[in-house]
Amino acid sequence: MIKPYPPTPEPFIMDYSIHPTAIADEGAQIGADTRIWHWTHICAGARIGRGCSLGQGVYVGNRVRIGDRVKIQNNVSVYDNVTLEDDVFCGPSMVFTNVYNPRSAISRKDDYRNTLVRRGATLGANCTIVCGIEIGAHAFIGAGALVNRDCPPFALMLGVPARQVGWMSRFGERLVLPLTGDGECVCPHTGEHYRLGDGALALLETSDTKELRKDD
Ligand SMILES: CC(C)(COP(=O)(O)OP(=O)(O)OC[C@H]1O[C@@H](n2cnc3c(N)ncnc32)[C@H](O)[C@@H]1OP(=O)(O)O)[C@@H](O)C(=O)NCCC(=O)NCCS
Repeated sequence: MIKPYPPTPEPFIMDYSIHPTAIADEGAQIGADTRIWHWTHICAGARIGRGCSLGQGVYVGNRVRIGDRVKIQNNVSVYDNVTLEDDVFCGPSMVFTNVYNPRSAISRKDDYRNTLVRRGATLGANCTIVCGIEIGAHAFIGAGALVNRDCPPFALMLGVPARQVGWMSRFGERLVLPLTGDGECVCPHTGEHYRLGDGALALLETSDTKELRKDD
């Protein structure tokens, strides 16, 4: 299910850096410590959080909400009705969409479908996200994948069309677990514990992970 846009927290301090070749239209809200690089265009209605990085040649539409610490690599267009939660990574030249069945001669501006990318997810280089789906928290979309279905949290999705081939930890390490059934696994890098059950993977809560999990 697609959630409505989250409200913008107040007070919103706009203390960001923007390259002289980039344009942020009047009204755009951009959080502190966000960096905007060459030839990027932010539309007036966009809301971008703190500590983000928007690379070269990025476009951000009016009805776009971007959380904190989001990284958007070069040549990515974030179209209307896309929401990126905190810590999302958009690889270079990856593609969002917002019209499912576009025709040049027919206006479909009232038919935009929402895309929601949950916190911590990675969208690999040159992947395509067909609109109307939700990408779960910390899911990992491989380079070049074509995603046209909801993706579970922590899922590793590869191919055209993308299929789940495994699980990735919050840190971005492959977890040795089956796709279904039950199991437990420890991230080889962080030591965090994960539990698989009923087809879903969950990060077991510790005092360290509590903060990270509270919005998942
Ligand atoms: C998915 C990824 C993390 C590799 O994960 P991995 O678990 O180490 O996978 P491996 O390299 O061991 O490959 C396992 C299999 O998946 C295949 N594979 C790996 N990445 C793939 C991809 N993106 N699409 C399709 N197949 C892929 C491999 O060819 C291999 O297939 P095989 O078993 O038939 O030989 C990596 O390939 C990837 O796509 N990273 C994203 C890079 C990116 O976009 N960076 C952006 C910032 S520059």
